[in-house]
Amino acid sequence: MDAHTNAARTPAAATYPISIRINGEQRQFEVEAWVTLLDLLRERLSMTGTKKGCDHGQCGACTVLVGGKRINSCLTLAVMQNGKDIVTVEGLADGDRLHPLQQAFIDHDAFQCGYCTPGQLCSAIGLMKEGEARTVAEVRELMSGNVCRCGAYPQIVAAVTQVMGLAEHKDNPDRPYIPGTVPA
Ligand code: FES
Ligand code: FES
Repeated sequence: MDAHTNAARTPAAATYPISIRINGEQRQFEVEAWVTLLDLLRERLSMTGTKKGCDHGQCGACTVLVGGKRINSCLTLAVMQNGKDIVTVEGLADGDRLHPLQQAFIDHDAFQCGYCTPGQLCSAIGLMKEGEARTVAEVRELMSGNVCRCGAYPQIVAAVTQVMGLAEHKDNPDRPYIPGTVPA
């Protein structure tokens, strides 16, 4: 039996219809049961703003907002999000007008390679909606699921706390951050 005959006999994997609102646009898909939300966004929709870092729920690069709540899109299946309202980094700006958090990231030089940035932005928006962080230390703690391999944390914290209206120096006046690259 040749490979061609074998392939012809392999049954196609079952797919399931789902309907998801992504950045304000209702979209329909047929997906296999194992497709993650992250792969749906990146591989099928070419929405590559959301990053794949670890693919294991450990880095936060894939963070998106589902119903306003931040989640790791690598850890959820697309079929589980049927009927949900999803916002990715591509949906944060209002046309040419950046989201205040995006502008704050630029103002504070809060990224270097930028790979973690989409996840940091979505996570920070989720954080603000949760209303649990009231101090700079709590911002750091509740953003700790978002890893930045470039080490831009001080600038990220400065950007997030500025948008939240927290005094960045409040928790640690003796250690002001100095924007710039991380020494090799
Ligand atoms: S890619 Fe999802 S947490 Fe790292
Ligand atoms: S800016 Fe490079 S990983 Fe965060």
